Amino acid sequence: MNNSTWLKTFFYCFFSSLILSQGTLASDEKVTYSKDVATIIFDKCVSCHNPDGIGPMSLLTFEETQPWAPLISYKVERREMPPWHLDKAVGIQTYNNDVSLSEEQVSLIVQWAKSGAPQGDPALTPAQPKLPDASEWQLASELGEPDFVVKSPPYTVTANAQDQWWVRNTSFAGLIDEPRYVRATELKGSYPLGVKVLHHGHAQLRSNDGNGNRASGPVGRQGVGKGGDRFPEGTGMLIYPEGTINWNLHYFPISEVVPNEQAEAAVWLYPKGYKPEFQTRGEQFFAADSGPGGLWANDLLLPPNSVKSQQGFRVLKRPALITSFRPHMHMRGRAQSLEAIYPDGRREMLARVDKYDHSWQINYEFTEDSAPLLPAGTMLKITSTWDNTSQNPHNPDPRQWVVFGQRGVDEMSHLWLGVTYLSDEQYEELISKRQARMTASRDQ
Ligand code: HEC
Repeated sequence: MNNSTWLKTFFYCFFSSLILSQGTLASDEKVTYSKDVATIIFDKCVSCHNPDGIGPMSLLTFEETQPWAPLISYKVERREMPPWHLDKAVGIQTYNNDVSLSEEQVSLIVQWAKSGAPQGDPALTPAQPKLPDASEWQLASELGEPDFVVKSPPYTVTANAQDQWWVRNTSFAGLIDEPRYVRATELKGSYPLGVKVLHHGHAQLRSNDGNGNRASGPVGRQGVGKGGDRFPEGTGMLIYPEGTINWNLHYFPISEVVPNEQAEAAVWLYPKGYKPEFQTRGEQFFAADSGPGGLWANDLLLPPNSVKSQQGFRVLKRPALITSFRPHMHMRGRAQSLEAIYPDGRREMLARVDKYDHSWQINYEFTEDSAPLLPAGTMLKITSTWDNTSQNPHNPDPRQWVVFGQRGVDEMSHLWLGVTYLSDEQYEELISKRQARMTASRDQ
C-alpha cells in the first residue's frame, strides 16, 4: 500500500465511522413512544386494537404496546399491518379509507423497536383518541336511527378453529311496502362478542317488484374497523319490496365460544317519493374472463408449483363513476389489478393490489376526486395472478392442482366495483365540476 492509498483509506474509515456514530447518536436520543410512536398507533392501529375491537390485543397504552414492539416492527416493515395491500408504485393512491403508514412512520416504528422501545417523557403522550361506541350504529350520529335492521340466522363461532364462513339466505319480504332508495347502510356483529369475531362480511339484497324488475345491491358491508357506507348526497340505490338477503359472513374465532351470533345490517332510506339524481348499483360483481359464454368459473385451473395470470374484460355501455375497488381471490391469490382502456386507446392502471391476503376483504374507496370517471365505451380489464408455489406464504399445498370453487383452498377471481352509471349529461357535469375544483385548489 503506498502512502496516498493509505491516507485515503485512513480518511475513509475515519470519516465514515464519524458519520456512523453521529447517525447512531441521533437515532438513540430521538425516537420515543410518547413523542413519536403513540400518535401513529392512535391514528392507525387502535380503531381495531382496543379492548372491544377485532385486533387480537389492545394497543391503547404504553404498557400494552411495549411488549409487542418487535412484532409490531416486523409487521409494519413488511406492510402486513395495518391491513392495506395496495401496490404503492402504480395506480390511484388517494383513498377515503387509507389506513396505511407513510415511509417515515414505518421507519420511526422500526427505529423505536430497535432501540429497545423506550417510553420517553410520559407528559408528551397525546390524549387517547375517542373510540366509537361498538354497541351503536356509527351512522346514527349523522342520520338518526336506521329505517330497518335485519339479522342474519344465528351461527355459533367455536372457541378455537380456523376462520369460518357463514353463508345463508333470509327473506326480505315485509320490510318496505313500495320501491325505495337506500341512502346508507351499516353491518356489524352483535355487541360485544359478535363485534370481535365478525372479521368482515356482506349482506346482499336481491329484490324484485313482482313485475320482472330486479335490483341487487349491498344492504350492509363490513370490514374490520370500518363504520357504515353512506352514498354521496343525491345518490341512492333502488330496492324493491320482495326479495332475499344473502349473508356472507367471515368469522375469526377468539378463544372463547360465541353462541348464536347474529350479524345485523341497518338500512337508512331516502324519504318516500324522493328520487335521487344519481342511481347507484352499489357494488357490482366483475369476474375475470366473464365475457360472452361466461367461462370464468370452469376454466380456472392452476397447475402445481406454478404462477398463473388470467384476464377478463368488460366494455361500459354507459359512462360510469367507479367509487370503490374490492379484489377477491382465495389462498393462492397474490395480485389483482383494474385497468381502463379508454375509447381513444389510452390505457390507465386504476388500482392494483400486490400483497393480496384472502383473510382480508378490503374495499378500497376512492375519494370524490380520485374516483375514476369513465366515458361510455371504456374497456375495463381485470388481471388476477395466483402463486401456487411454496413462495406464497398463504399456500396450504403447492403440490395440488387447483380449480374454481367456494372453499378457501379452491380458487376464484373477481372484483366488486362500486359503480354509479351516468347519463351523458351527468358525466359531463361531473367532469366539469371536478375540473373546477382542481382549478380552484391550484389557484389557492
Ligand atoms: C382494520 C383493523 C386493524 C388495524 C387498523 C390494525 N390491525 Fe393489527 N391486527 C388486526 C387483526 C384482525 C389481527 C389478527 C389477524 C391478522 O394478523 O391478520 C392483527 C394482528 C396484528 C399483529 C400480530 C399479532 C399476533 O399475535 O400475531 C400485530 C403486531 C399488529 N396487528 C399490529 C398492528 C399495528 C402496529 C397497527 C397500526 C400501525 C395495526 N395492527 C393496525 C387488525 C388491525
